[in-house]
Amino acid sequence: MTETAGPPEAIRLEQLWGSEFGDDYVDRNKTFDHRSPFWRDRLAATGCRRALEVGCNIGGNLQWIAEALPPRDVFGVDVNEKALHVLTQRVPGVNAVWGPARELPFRDGWFDLTFTMGVLIHQPDATLPLVMAEVVRCSSRWVLCGEYHAAANVEVPYRGQEGALFKRDYGRLYRELFPQLVLRDEGFLGRDDGWDDVTWSLFEKA
Ligand SMILES: C[S@@+](CC[C@H](N)C(=O)[O-])C[C@H]1O[C@@H](n2cnc3c(N)ncnc32)[C@H](O)[C@@H]1O
Repeated sequence: MTETAGPPEAIRLEQLWGSEFGDDYVDRNKTFDHRSPFWRDRLAATGCRRALEVGCNIGGNLQWIAEALPPRDVFGVDVNEKALHVLTQRVPGVNAVWGPARELPFRDGWFDLTFTMGVLIHQPDATLPLVMAEVVRCSSRWVLCGEYHAAANVEVPYRGQEGALFKRDYGRLYRELFPQLVLRDEGFLGRDDGWDDVTWSLFEKA
């Protein structure tokens, strides 16, 4: 696995996701058809032309964006090489980029939509603000997060790993850390609709 320097807790989790643990996640059977309406609606609302998903895995979100935009304008970053390989097979033409979320290799405002889905939950306190700052920095306009919500920060056991999953109020954290973000929409994606109890917020840069 490729490595970068950084805070030990961030490196530990990046290495975890880049290892067999992350490969096993890739191999788990997952279906993504239920995500189509969500992305149809968000793309219509934002008019997005170039998008970046941080922690994209095999493209369960990007596949819908790449149906609406030219795949060359669709980017995914991840620390798991197997996921990126599968992504390029599943969604031909998209840009699959290896890298940790706290050091995104893109210039300021290169995208008009940047987002995470189930990825901030896997960031330690030490680098969460940095990861969020990178997501905000790379967008000229729209920022979206879809994560597990809790009003107060709480760690949740995750597949035998300690310090690997944190429920937090991510929408509130974005507003507190980045006052230039204006909340434009928000919602909840529940199990009845095939999602995993995901709370999402869509922000626009003022
Ligand atoms: C729970 S999966 C979510 C995948 C995808 N966003 C989705 O909604 O299907 C988390 C993904 O984030 C990646 N990841 C976790 N921490 C990361 C980090 N610090 N930098 C980049 N990718 C990361 C993992 O390798 C994994 O592919």
